[in-house]
Amino acid sequence: MAIVTVPAETRQITDPAEIKAFLAERGLDFAQWPLEDRVDPAADAEDILAAYAPEIDELKERGGFVTADVIDVRPETPGLDAMLDKFNKEHTHTEDEVRFTLQGRGVFHINPDDSPVFAIEVHAGDLISVPKGTRHWFDLCGDRRIRAIRLFQDTSGWTPHYIDEGVHAGYEPLCLGPAWVDGQQ
Ligand SMILES: [Fe+2]
Repeated sequence: MAIVTVPAETRQITDPAEIKAFLAERGLDFAQWPLEDRVDPAADAEDILAAYAPEIDELKERGGFVTADVIDVRPETPGLDAMLDKFNKEHTHTEDEVRFTLQGRGVFHINPDDSPVFAIEVHAGDLISVPKGTRHWFDLCGDRRIRAIRLFQDTSGWTPHYIDEGVHAGYEPLCLGPAWVDGQQ
């Protein structure tokens, strides 16, 4: 279950409908897809993509995405720090960043043009779409575990374009929800 925090307003939102409305006002899509009753979130990537084909196809039709994959990150993933360092600094993309979390968690910070920076901690079952051009950065939590479906309009579009203002340095990725426990579904 996602958690939104707005540090400048010491505000926290945990109700999914409120989160959806808060994000929609700021141009981000949020949804929750069924989990265990659809497929084992630990299943092979091929089975995951087949199980969520209806949702993925709808997103492809709506958002012009052409491919989907499953990213699997664990504490022991080789080169994890280098990978995280690419995305934990404020950046934009030339295409929407769409992620459906299957296991684990992570924190997106969003820096909107006309409202304070806010964070979204995503958990299993949460779908988030960060529109192209939105300033944001991403961190894992201390458990360093996330498994997620990613959608791409063009894999080269997912290159980060950095904004060298150092805004991200003022925010700690505070993880508030339940931690990932290895072996859980
Ligand atoms: Fe990004």
